[in-house]
Amino acid sequence: MTMSKIILLLLVAPLRMAAARSDCLPGGQHMEASFACSMMWLSKPQQDLCIRIMIWGGIDMSVSHKEEETGYVTLAAWFAVESFDVTRIAARNQLSHNTSLSGQERHAYEGCMKDYALAGRHITRVANEMLPSCRFTDLSYEYNRALNSIVTCMNRLSVNTPLYPMVLADQDKAVLAYHLATLIGVL
Ligand SMILES: *[C@@H]1O[C@H](CO)[C@@H](O)[C@H](O)[C@H]1NC(C)=O
Repeated sequence: MTMSKIILLLLVAPLRMAAARSDCLPGGQHMEASFACSMMWLSKPQQDLCIRIMIWGGIDMSVSHKEEETGYVTLAAWFAVESFDVTRIAARNQLSHNTSLSGQERHAYEGCMKDYALAGRHITRVANEMLPSCRFTDLSYEYNRALNSIVTCMNRLSVNTPLYPMVLADQDKAVLAYHLATLIGVL
């Protein structure tokens, strides 16, 4: 993918998120982003990723700033949406431009394109429809479907193929998004 496309993706996302952020639980719990990210069941790498996501989303990280918890969960879901998009485009670019891909790799990448289309649909539903309208029923199912599709793709790939690290990172992002929703009690 071209650099300008990547930049466009990164620019558009926070705008969409700002519009999507909402208060689901009037009078409900508000917390600092750093507190949300330091929940004790998150591993240290997950905590670091969580903080990266908050900063990406333009969240004020100062201790005095609190937001409704669903906002953080929504942000993590959007982060996954954007990351899945980037990986899917990378897979497509490899398929169309990389003549060194083996037949087996091509086959795997084509499978991954399908897995990612599915994963993208589910996580987008979470970020764009369910969380903004405070619909939490079946949320767990949607997260799981998204995560399962990423894992399906990962299982197709050998660890030394170019797409592998991106898919591995996407798995972490999907797990974190799900975990955050659980910890905050949205699920
Ligand atoms: C093209 O595919 C080969 C085989 O997997 C890989 O080693 C190489 O890094 C890829 N090239 C690019 C530019 O990604």
